[in-house]
Amino acid sequence: MTAEMIDRDWEDFKTKFNAKSQIDLNQYKPAQMQRRITNLMARHNVQKYMDFFHLLDKDEALFRHFIDYLTINVTEFFRTPEKFVELEQKVIPDLMQQNSSRLKIWSAGCSTGAEPYSMSIMMSDITPRTKHQILASDLDVKMLAKAKEGVYQVNELKNVSPARLTKYFRAAGPDRYAVTAEVKEGITFQHHNLLLDKYDSGFDLISCRNVVIYFTEEAKDKLYRRFLEALRPGGVLFVGGTEAILNFREIGFQHYMPFFYRKPLK
Ligand SMILES: C[S@@+](CC[C@H](N)C(=O)[O-])C[C@H]1O[C@@H](n2cnc3c(N)ncnc32)[C@H](O)[C@@H]1O
Repeated sequence: MTAEMIDRDWEDFKTKFNAKSQIDLNQYKPAQMQRRITNLMARHNVQKYMDFFHLLDKDEALFRHFIDYLTINVTEFFRTPEKFVELEQKVIPDLMQQNSSRLKIWSAGCSTGAEPYSMSIMMSDITPRTKHQILASDLDVKMLAKAKEGVYQVNELKNVSPARLTKYFRAAGPDRYAVTAEVKEGITFQHHNLLLDKYDSGFDLISCRNVVIYFTEEAKDKLYRRFLEALRPGGVLFVGGTEAILNFREIGFQHYMPFFYRKPLK
């Protein structure tokens, strides 16, 4: 195939895939995406993107696997913005009312740092003079190195308001922005395996979102029980949009709002 044919094939694939999955591959770095996708295509013995699309279209299990495969480390600032609005307007004010000093927050499975930095920005807006404590952990050391660097492509910032972009970021090359030192302050990045390592305790808020896709039901159950222990009474667990915990009561949580669970006060 000529380069032009490959480009056409890729464009057609993105259009078809977006229509089927609502995932816009244009939002991701093309070199990285194409490398990941062609690796998977090779495993299925196909060379053209559109041939791969037809396979995905026919095979629901492969389609789901492909989505998981694509989203392994994918993150963005203020992911699911409406949840961050609830966090800002309801959850954080409730937590501060119970415990007016510095909040202790954990972003568990933080990938390249967009989540803990979003929390830091949100907290700076709510309480400009207080530095809260934010632990940001991940299993993947490469992601943690990127997180510490704090430099992002413009497409990862689509949910950042222009006012926040001006206040909390600096230009760092073409289409790239770096978070300011103020945003980084108070965040501790840590290499940590949620399935193996010890947990700290006394957290007001634990965010563990879009991490458990590959976890078995048993591993998830154990994880949520350990999160319950790591929260202070009244503390809140925040999970991803596809990760509602069905047995939250049995574990010991109270329902608070969709995708937010609370540890009882007593
Ligand atoms: C899709 S990202 C989610 C990032 C962020 N929480 C968000 O919602 O945008 C999932 C992250 O979970 C991390 N992860 C997967 N298994 C883990 C484990 N056992 N312990 C810690 N982190 C893990 C991966 O390395 C990846 O960076």
